[in-house]
Amino acid sequence: MFRIAVMVSGGGTNLQAIIDAIDSGKITDTEIAVVISNNADAYALERAKKAGINAVCVSRKEISDRDAYNKALIAAVDEANVDLVVLAGFLVVIPEEMIQKYRNRIINIHPSLIPSFCGTGYYGLKVHEAALARGVKVSGATVHFVDEGTDTGPIILQKAVEVKDGDTPEVLQRRIMEEAEWKLLPQAIQMLAHKES
Ligand code: GAR
Repeated sequence: MFRIAVMVSGGGTNLQAIIDAIDSGKITDTEIAVVISNNADAYALERAKKAGINAVCVSRKEISDRDAYNKALIAAVDEANVDLVVLAGFLVVIPEEMIQKYRNRIINIHPSLIPSFCGTGYYGLKVHEAALARGVKVSGATVHFVDEGTDTGPIILQKAVEVKDGDTPEVLQRRIMEEAEWKLLPQAIQMLAHKES
């Protein structure tokens, strides 16, 4: 069985897409060993609980020292003994020590076509606000490996999504989730679990 850790901060719709893809057989021979949140109020933790998945919170509020926080985060991942770490809307910077330890075994979903609208400060709705402000006609999502930079690692999958007249950041975010993110992330996990390229 291929074991994954899913790291979350918020609503957890991408986590849900992974859970659903495992249930429906789109992802095979894979289990979510742990869901890790930095935020105790994340609805993603509820989703994990409902699905009977082991979920832990490594709270940024409770551990204010950055080194201590990084150690706790790495310990939570280590403990789960996983083959792949999936960042599904995880909004905390991954410690360098963890990137080195899990080289090519951490993937992230980003809600734009990298290299557009990515890097420091581009997360969640801010990405879609920037895309609309620039007036692009196409945006999308990217799954990539995590390296020491912000959104700079090798790209695994991308999917384009049309921007429509009158889109708000919320409307565009939802369309990109539905048409790209919720498909791409499970697809990337299935590929990596079965070493397809
Ligand atoms: C998703 O749109 C994901 O691509 C984005 O956060 C959202 C989390 O939603 N991630 C980033 O912006 C990372 N830079 P979710 O909690 O419902 O999956």
